[in-house]
Amino acid sequence: MTTDNEARPSKHMEFQRVARLADIPDPGREVVEIDDRLVVLLHVGGEVFAIDDVCTHDGGPLGEGDLQDHTIACPRHGAKFDIRSGAALTMPATRPTVSHEVKVEGGEIFVRLSE
Ligand code: FES
Repeated sequence: MTTDNEARPSKHMEFQRVARLADIPDPGREVVEIDDRLVVLLHVGGEVFAIDDVCTHDGGPLGEGDLQDHTIACPRHGAKFDIRSGAALTMPATRPTVSHEVKVEGGEIFVRLSE
């Protein structure tokens, strides 16, 4: 038998409510802080995605980049990332940024951090 503490997943494993869907236009984005981590919420085509607000080339703020469909371009040197997976699509970035699991319930956006 486990106690409540042992059974409870760590905070990183839980979905956390982070924003209201109606507050982010489609298409649009909002940067939120979750457990001291900056995460970009991206509302595109009726879906919401979440990636770290960090370019893997040199730490650029992805949330400030141009958003075209499911691609966001880093404002520093232009590397593009797929907002659905975090995959790096163009140089100078070669590594993906972290993407996080998202769900929308009752008009509220919930994110579960990946790591
Ligand atoms: S910091 Fe993002 S492309 Fe260089």
